[in-house]
Amino acid sequence: MFVITGAAGGIGFATAHRAAEEGAKLVLADRKEEMSKTALEKLMKITSDVTFLILDLSAEENCKELIDTAWNKYGRIDVLINNAGITGIPAPVHTMGTQMFMEVMACNVYSAFFCSHYALAHMIEQGGASCVVNVSSVAGLTGFPGHSAYVTSKHALSGLTKNMAMDYAKYGIRVNAVNPGTTDTPMYQEALAFLSTKKAAQAKETTPSDKPICPPKIVSAQARVAAATEVSDVILFLASDEASNMTGTTVPVDGGFVCF
Ligand SMILES: NC(=O)c1ccc[n+]([C@@H]2O[C@H](COP(=O)([O-])OP(=O)(O)OC[C@H]3O[C@@H](n4cnc5c(N)ncnc54)[C@H](O)[C@@H]3O)[C@@H](O)[C@H]2O)c1
Repeated sequence: MFVITGAAGGIGFATAHRAAEEGAKLVLADRKEEMSKTALEKLMKITSDVTFLILDLSAEENCKELIDTAWNKYGRIDVLINNAGITGIPAPVHTMGTQMFMEVMACNVYSAFFCSHYALAHMIEQGGASCVVNVSSVAGLTGFPGHSAYVTSKHALSGLTKNMAMDYAKYGIRVNAVNPGTTDTPMYQEALAFLSTKKAAQAKETTPSDKPICPPKIVSAQARVAAATEVSDVILFLASDEASNMTGTTVPVDGGFVCF
């Protein structure tokens, strides 16, 4: 039984789709209503064992509702995938809106903490093997110019992953993270659109701005953008019994980005 957050988006939906194909029961959530409806329709073609909740998981009570729904329906939670995330609007710290920083932390870190908080109690109660997979980023391994909020949130997720792995191994619960590099999803397409608008605005400026967003040069050994399924395959491997000796790991799925 899988709980997946941010399941209407690129990596979350790819993970839900593959899990459904492999026979998993799904309880999913996302805050985007239309995309969630479309995702649910596609998943219903594979399985009827799927529930999709429209929830903003930056709020604790909504994370509780998600986990309660899964527990009340199935009486167990085998896999929690904390995937929901946003990049926020890139800006250097001195010009960054504090509200924006807090929103990124809430979507990327607090949601993972809240969902884990409620799910782990059930995982302990049910006994046996279960696991959490956090979807971090290469931004959880290194810095990105102008992306302090996102980088901070993803480093925090790495810390949460390692500590939960230590604290819950004694219950048979494994906790790992994947660190995707650039992956072709709605998030990536939105970032591209944002950067091209920003570039056009900067080209019109006659004086240098103190708010330029210079896109970081994305270099990886493979020099390409990944498909969402290339990330979801690794998430599902970490969630499988084949990864039974893996916990506390942060696994780059980045085409060799961290080689540089
Ligand atoms: N696409 C990339 O290049 C890339 C690279 C590294 C890491 N990631 C990470 O992968 C994860 C999935 O990203 P994606 O690329 O599939 O992006 P995406 O935007 O396609 O999907 C993310 C989904 O999360 C949902 N979401 C965000 N905040 C939420 C909230 N508070 N409550 C409920 N739902 C929420 C969004 O509505 C969206 O559908 C994210 O954590 C992202 O940071 C993506």
